[in-house]
Amino acid sequence: MKLAQRILAFGFSAMLMSAVAFGADKKGDAKKGQEVFENSACMGCHNTDNDEKRGNAPSLKGLFKKAGTTDAKVIDKVNKGGNGMPPYEEQLEPAQKTDLVAYLKTL
Ligand code: HEC
Repeated sequence: MKLAQRILAFGFSAMLMSAVAFGADKKGDAKKGQEVFENSACMGCHNTDNDEKRGNAPSLKGLFKKAGTTDAKVIDKVNKGGNGMPPYEEQLEPAQKTDLVAYLKTL
């Protein structure tokens, strides 16, 4: 009986832990997203600290404050690129894209 209880308790805490890990993953990690941003040449084209366009690339400062910006639209743009932006569908893992979104929300 005791052993069964211990197994139950273990199973329950493992479930809790994975729920927490899953939640964190879903939300994205802004700090990691910043690294992805800096290592994926995004910063070579996009300003993040002022509103100025660089060439055709719009500043990403305040991106998520603009009406109509959603996680899905931003991820779609990152995946497909277009109009002068390279596609990142193959280059980045899904989790890295979620992290990117979390970072872009801080701008
Ligand atoms: C070679 C230059 C270049 C690189 C590198 C680049 N982009 Fe872009 N990006 C652009 C251009 C140009 C546009 C505008 C495209 C358009 O008008 O459709 C754009 C548009 C966007 C948009 C839409 C902005 C809006 O206001 O709707 C997002 C979001 C974005 N880029 C994110 C990124 C991220 C994240 C990265 C790195 C993973 C990245 N870009 C790398 C050139 C670039």
